[in-house]
Order: sequence, then C-alpha cells, then structure tokens
Amino acid sequence: MDSFGQRTEQLQSRTADQATEVARLAGAWAHEIRGPISVIRLNMELLAEDFAEPKTPQERRLLEKIQVVLRECQRLEDMVNNFLAYIRPRPMRFTPTNLNEQVRRVLRFFAPKAKEARIEIVDYLAPDLPSVLLDIEAFSGALFNLVLNAQQAMPSGGQLVVRTYAIGDKVALDLIDTGVGMDEKTCAQIFDPFFTTKPGGSGLGLPTAKKIIEAHDGEITVQSELGRGTKVTVKLPVPPRLPAEPSPQHDASSPPAG
Ligand SMILES: Nc1ncnc2c1ncn2[C@@H]1O[C@H](COP(=O)(O)OP(=O)(O)OP(=O)(O)O)[C@@H](O)[C@H]1O
Ligand SMILES: [Mg+2]
Repeated sequence: MDSFGQRTEQLQSRTADQATEVARLAGAWAHEIRGPISVIRLNMELLAEDFAEPKTPQERRLLEKIQVVLRECQRLEDMVNNFLAYIRPRPMRFTPTNLNEQVRRVLRFFAPKAKEARIEIVDYLAPDLPSVLLDIEAFSGALFNLVLNAQQAMPSGGQLVVRTYAIGDKVALDLIDTGVGMDEKTCAQIFDPFFTTKPGGSGLGLPTAKKIIEAHDGEITVQSELGRGTKVTVKLPVPPRLPAEPSPQHDASSPPAG
C-alpha cells in the first residue's frame, strides 16, 4: 500500500474510533436522563392523584396541565428507550423458529388496534416454511414496528396484506399496505436514524428494525408509491439442516418488545 493509502486508512480508523466513543457517551447520557424523567413522572402522578376529582375550575385547569406534563414525560421516556434500543441492541439469542408463528403472534397482538383503525388484515402464510433462526423478542419487536408504520400510513383505514413464502434459500415476509405511500426522496431517507415525517415520531423504528434484521443476517427492502401504498420485504436466510425442534410457545397477550 502506498503512503497515501496508509494515511487514508489511519484517518478512517480514527474516525471510526471517534464514532464508537460518541455512541458510548450518547448511550450513557440517555441512560442518565431516564432517572430524572421518572422522578418527574412519579411526582406528577402523585399530583394528579391529589387532584383526581377537581372541585373548582382552577383545579380542573391544574389537572389538565399535569396531564400534559405526564404525556410529555411518556414521550421523553419512549424517545430515550427507542434511542437506547437503537444504539445498544442486546446480544441476540437465536432459536429455530417458524416465521409464520411469530407473524401470527404479532398480528394477534395488533388485531384490536387494526379493528379500531379500520384496517383489514389479509394473511397468506405459506404452509411448510423452513425454520429460521430468530431472536424471538427482537424480531417480533421489529415486526411490530413495521406493522405500526403500516397502520400509521393508513389514517382512514385500509388493507394490510401479510405474506410469507420461501424464495431460494431464504424465507421472506411481505407487508403491503394501502397507505399514503412515499415519494422517492422520502423513501431514500427512511433508514436514516431520526428521519421522521410524523409529529412525535422518533425516526428510529425502521433503523432499529433494520439493525435487528441484519443481525439475523437478513435484509429489509422497501418499495413505495406516493398515494398508493408501501411494500416492505424482509428476507431471512434458511440455515442448512436445522434440528427438528418445536419452537417455544409464546403468550399472545404479552406485547412484542419494540
Ligand atoms: N408503511 C409506510 N408507509 C409510508 N411511510 C412510511 C411507512 N413506513 C415508514 N414510513 C416513513 O418512514 C419514516 C421513518 O419511519 P420510522 O419507523 O423509522 O420512524 P417513525 O415511524 O416516523 O417514528 P417511530 O417509529 O419512532 O414512531 C416515517 O416517518 C414515514 O415517513
Ligand atoms: Mg415507525
């Protein structure tokens, strides 16, 4: 390698070290922030209890303000948790699992929300899908975020088609919504951390889902058309010869971590 090449490599490695250090500090900082937020929330909850039955207009206004602070605390907590989930993914624990089972679990959990949002869920889950290795909690959390995005893209209802199939040495999952869709410029940015078009969105849902899927050696792609809808495809490798092992049962009432 010539000296120019060496120098470039040195500089790149230093930049990478700096990025790791920044991520470490940001993680520690986000972790620290959790404490004060929960103290604020706890005290606001106690105040809200004191004024649970407001007797005067003044007390009613006070209660309303407390509720605003509580809602914002919740938002802050969500933001910090999303941020920590993105920069500090926990180590994966892979289990041979049937993808359909996890898809059904997430859809069962989502069903009440879908009904309320007037979203019809249509599923075509291929029978006899080969097992894949999944970290069930992380993967279902990622899947839940994708389903949530689809729901948020259909504010006046619509249809969500969920399809699984085997393709070559992979299994794939399509989520096709009839939502607002995206133009090319938006679509090019959706995996950038903090990119969001939603008031109150963290813009970390898709980057985190991508990170999780890539930790499974999988890939996620998105195709979209403005005003028509969006198709998200997740592909996962089928490991050669997995032991025939029943996958663990999960309680449909427990929320998928997200
Ligand atoms: N199914 C979809 N249809 C249309 N736009 C989408 C869809 N999924 C994602 N997007 C776009 O990609 C952006 C980024 O999505 P991402 O899930 O990362 O963050 P978010 O949904 O905005 O915030 P959060 O996930 O924290 O609630 C969204 O704001 C939206 O503009
Ligand atoms: Mg999202």
